[in-house]
Order: sequence, then structure tokens, then C-alpha cells
Amino acid sequence: MEVSEIGIGTWQLANDPEMWVGGDLNESLRALQRYTELGGNFVDTAWVYGVAKKQETPTSEELIGKFLKDSGKSDNLIIASKVAPKNWNWPALKNVPIEEVFPKGHIEKLVNESLSRLGVSSIDLMQFHVWQDDWAGYDEWKETAQKLTKEGKVKYWGISVNDYQPSNCLKTLDTGMISTIQFIFNIFHQKPTEKLLPYAKSNNIGLIARVPLDEGGLSGKWDKNHKFAEGDFRSSYFGGERLGELIERTQKLKELLGNEVQTLPELALKYILSFEEVSTVIPGMRTVKHVEMNTGISDGVKLSEELLSKLKEHYWERNFYSDHDPWLKASNFIEA
Ligand SMILES: NC(=O)c1ccc[n+]([C@@H]2O[C@H](COP(=O)([O-])OP(=O)(O)OC[C@H]3O[C@@H](n4cnc5c(N)ncnc54)[C@H](OP(=O)(O)O)[C@@H]3O)[C@@H](O)[C@H]2O)c1
Repeated sequence: MEVSEIGIGTWQLANDPEMWVGGDLNESLRALQRYTELGGNFVDTAWVYGVAKKQETPTSEELIGKFLKDSGKSDNLIIASKVAPKNWNWPALKNVPIEEVFPKGHIEKLVNESLSRLGVSSIDLMQFHVWQDDWAGYDEWKETAQKLTKEGKVKYWGISVNDYQPSNCLKTLDTGMISTIQFIFNIFHQKPTEKLLPYAKSNNIGLIARVPLDEGGLSGKWDKNHKFAEGDFRSSYFGGERLGELIERTQKLKELLGNEVQTLPELALKYILSFEEVSTVIPGMRTVKHVEMNTGISDGVKLSEELLSKLKEHYWERNFYSDHDPWLKASNFIEA
């Protein structure tokens, strides 16, 4: 499949009182429209986006389904969705049996629901929304995936790996069942360059880079007094001292701007696209303005070796998704 190098991430497309708030669903639809007008063809979504405590407003998949129906663009776009874990645990923990997370009936049920919400007869790419590489040897998920593919419901299968565990999928990739990996990759989290990127290059695996702007932090648009809307998960993600540290780090990154790259979002996205192994980068976008800014950087020009080498110094490995949650912290989920 030929995907545009700037995809559209849609975690925030629909409002969700527990994670993303403050969106305008009409603007979300306009953002999708503008993205396709500007030549984008890759939409990343998930069964779970916008689902929290079933609400009246549509989920992300339902909004995309409405857009596909109204615009008649089903055939022009590549849609990637995700099967949520049955035990509702992100990330997948070690030693939890796959039967609790992705049993056959559950995979089939969620694929059927995604098809119905999207209003399509086939999903181009279905990703497992969490993963543990120890599940590589189990047969049921493979048989279920093959069955759904034979039925024409899913074209390709992928894994969206746990946060900050880019290599927790390599044994599974050896099975040949999985075509793509979705993983966190940005200027702060450079670990994927160590093992995942070389593996993908040698084995022709599609790579989908998520959280390229560190949830907006790498856009450089906030100052240390910024207040997130109530309910926006980023008030804890960047809570306490973290916002101040982020601002210090983005100030240093701004010193690298100049002739080659003029803005921080451009630097952040081009950093990722400078690795030829990456198939597409999927910034979350729910406004026309962000769609225009982010697709606008797609000119095929990679960052110079000199700038890439300077960016190596700006890594900042940590896990702000888990640090506030003792249960997650105990699960030791930054990859060694
Ligand atoms: N486990 C998983 O599988 C998983 C987890 C996370 C994400 N994802 C996928 O990856 C996608 C991207 O990750 P993400 O959305 O979490 O993080 P992200 O792309 O790093 O950040 C998205 C946020 O950055 C801000 N932004 C985007 N473009 C901007 C620009 N040009 N200038 C200033 N601000 C800009 C927006 O914030 P505001 O909207 O507040 O303005 C947007 O909501 C998601 O949408 C989702 O599709 C998957």
C-alpha cells in the first residue's frame, strides 16, 4: 500500500471526557476534509477512541464513517483501526495470558463493530492495540486473523506496541503474520532507532510513527503558565515540574531553527521522516489549521546529517503516561 508520509491521527477527533476534551466535532470533520483535499490518504483510528463510558456523541470511527459516507472517499483512503484489549488494560503486561486480552470471539466482535461504525466492507489495516512478544507462539490470534482476512474483512494486520517498548514485537514479526508496527517515535524518544528500525528495513515492515509531537509538547506552543482544559489528560501528563522542564527543553530546540527548518512542529515531524524506514508519521489533528501546518511540511526534503546529529543530544527518555499511576509504574514498562 502506498501511504502518504503525513497520516492523520484521530485519537482526539471525537471528544472523550477522560482523555481529550474541548474539540469541535464539525471542525474535526472539516479537518478530515482538508486532509484529503491536500493529498493525505492515511487515517489512523481505533475502536476505543471516543468510546469512554458510552456517550451520546459519536466515536472517532463513527465520525470517520460519516466523513467517508458524505464525501464518497472510501476508495481513496487507507484506514487503519485497532482492536482494543478485552481486559481493557493499556499496556499489555508481561505474563498476562493472551486469552484474557485477544481471544478469538473478542477479535471478531470488535472487527465487526469497527466495520459497522466505519461503514466499510473491509478495513485496510487492523492493529492489535497492545502487545506482548511472548504471544508470538500462540495460534488462536493467527488463525482468527487469517479467517478475517479470508472473509475479506481485514486486508493487513499490524501491532500498535506498548508505549516506549518499540522492540516488544520482534519475535512476533518473525511469524510473518504482521505487516506494520505502530510505535512512539519523536525527538525525545529515539530508542526505536536501535532495534526496530533496522529490523523493519531488513524485513520490509511498514512503520507508523505515533505521538510525533509528544502530545503537543514538541510543538513549542505552550509556556510554563499554560493551563490545560479540565479533563484533558495532558494536565497530568505535563503535571507538576514537567511542564517547566518541557519548556526548557523546547527552548533549546528552538535554538536549532533557522534556514533549514523554521518551526518546531516542522523540526519534530521532519526528524521522523528523515529515517527512510518510516512509512508514515501520524500527528493527531483535529483542526484545519494543524492539518495545513503539518501536511505543509511534506516536501520530501530530509534534515541534514549535521542537524540530525545535533538532535541526538535532545533525547529525554521517560514515561509520563505511567508515572502518575502506581499500577503502571510497578509494571516496569519502559523497555530496557
Ligand atoms: N497506543 C496507541 O496505539 C496510540 C497511542 C497514542 C496515539 N496513537 C495514535 O497516534 C496519533 C498521534 O499521537 P497523539 O495524537 O497522541 O500525539 P501527538 O501527535 O504527538 O500530539 C497531537 C496534539 O498535538 C497538537 N498539534 C498537532 N499539530 C500541531 C501543530 N502543527 N502545531 C501545534 N500543535 C499541534 C494538537 O493538540 P491540540 O489538539 O490540543 O491543539 C494535537 O492534538 C493519535 O492521534 C492516534 O491516532 C496511538
